[in-house]
Amino acid sequence: MFFIICVVLLLCYFYMRPTVTVTRSPSCLVGKTAVVTGANSGIGYQTALNLASRGCKIIMADLTDMEKSKLDIIEFTNNPNIFAKHLDLSSLKSVREFASEIWKSEDKLDILINNAGIGASEKNRTADGLHPVMQINYFGHFLLTHLLMGLLKKSAAGRIVFMSSVFAFTNNLSLKKLNFDREKPNCFDRQFVYGNSKLSMIMAADTFAEKLKGTGVTVNSVHPGLVKTPIFTKTYAVYQNVFFQMFIWLSQCVFGRDPWEGSQGLVHAAVSRELKNETGKFFGDYAPRRKPLKAYNKQLCKDIWNASEIYVGLTPEERL
Ligand SMILES: NC(=O)c1ccc[n+]([C@@H]2O[C@H](COP(=O)([O-])OP(=O)(O)OC[C@H]3O[C@@H](n4cnc5c(N)ncnc54)[C@H](OP(=O)(O)O)[C@@H]3O)[C@@H](O)[C@H]2O)c1
Repeated sequence: MFFIICVVLLLCYFYMRPTVTVTRSPSCLVGKTAVVTGANSGIGYQTALNLASRGCKIIMADLTDMEKSKLDIIEFTNNPNIFAKHLDLSSLKSVREFASEIWKSEDKLDILINNAGIGASEKNRTADGLHPVMQINYFGHFLLTHLLMGLLKKSAAGRIVFMSSVFAFTNNLSLKKLNFDREKPNCFDRQFVYGNSKLSMIMAADTFAEKLKGTGVTVNSVHPGLVKTPIFTKTYAVYQNVFFQMFIWLSQCVFGRDPWEGSQGLVHAAVSRELKNETGKFFGDYAPRRKPLKAYNKQLCKDIWNASEIYVGLTPEERL
């Protein structure tokens, strides 16, 4: 039995490695400006590094002190145009402060990478009364994208990329479960909340894409595959579930990509000339993929969008 499992894992490994794709796009980004959330670590850091190596001005947005990551990027790329700004996506106030600073310092924004995220949280509510996983992964980015929209429209061809995940397929998302308002999430819900947040990202990308048609701004979502980053260690710390840990550890050994490989899809969606007119797509390894079924439910997408506008406190003028 052990031998068969080893052979299957080995075959999976040899199948998975060649399917890791690397963006071949040579696009130069001199004169462009990008905001990358969660740029201090993992996929976000590698994305910022890649865009910086193309000459892009980078605004790294993260919770923790980014000084070391910023200096590393400047040293590795020889691009001095790298800036670090504090952003706490678990606070609507922080998102508003961050956006207003960007409005003060920038004339336009060319690329917005909504990447930051967490796998789980011990708490059920943030100070804004939202579920922390939903707020950091989704609501915060939903608000941020609205607040930066005016700057993105000023770019000749603004691009927004929402980071999703294949876990979007494992969800129990409904209007009621969007923020668990009338009930505390039970242990079943806790397994699904990450998937719900990632499905909400796909739905938001699709609705933004629809509403922005004709403005020159394109919006897509991406899943990076399974990537070996600190997100798993942080998630273990919350779940403390041995079976979950073993499953992730084994999957990482077999399918896991390194953060550089994991960033390639995001970078491709943000810079590739081939995708300049693509909008409302869900990409995995550069190819448009089928989305989770609920993402095709127009009424649910509309309901989630309308409820999200209320949860994040958008004023009528800020709405699209
Ligand atoms: N790794 C995978 O296999 C995988 C697969 C599918 C999707 N994703 C998604 O990819 C994205 C990046 O994750 P990763 O794997 O690169 O993990 P990571 O290395 O942990 O990066 C996540 C980043 O988000 C930041 N962040 C966390 N909470 C924040 C907050 N409240 N405000 C602002 N920034 C915050 C983290 O900052 P701190 O370092 O301070 O916590 C970190 O820099 C996430 O959205 C994740 O869901 C990852």
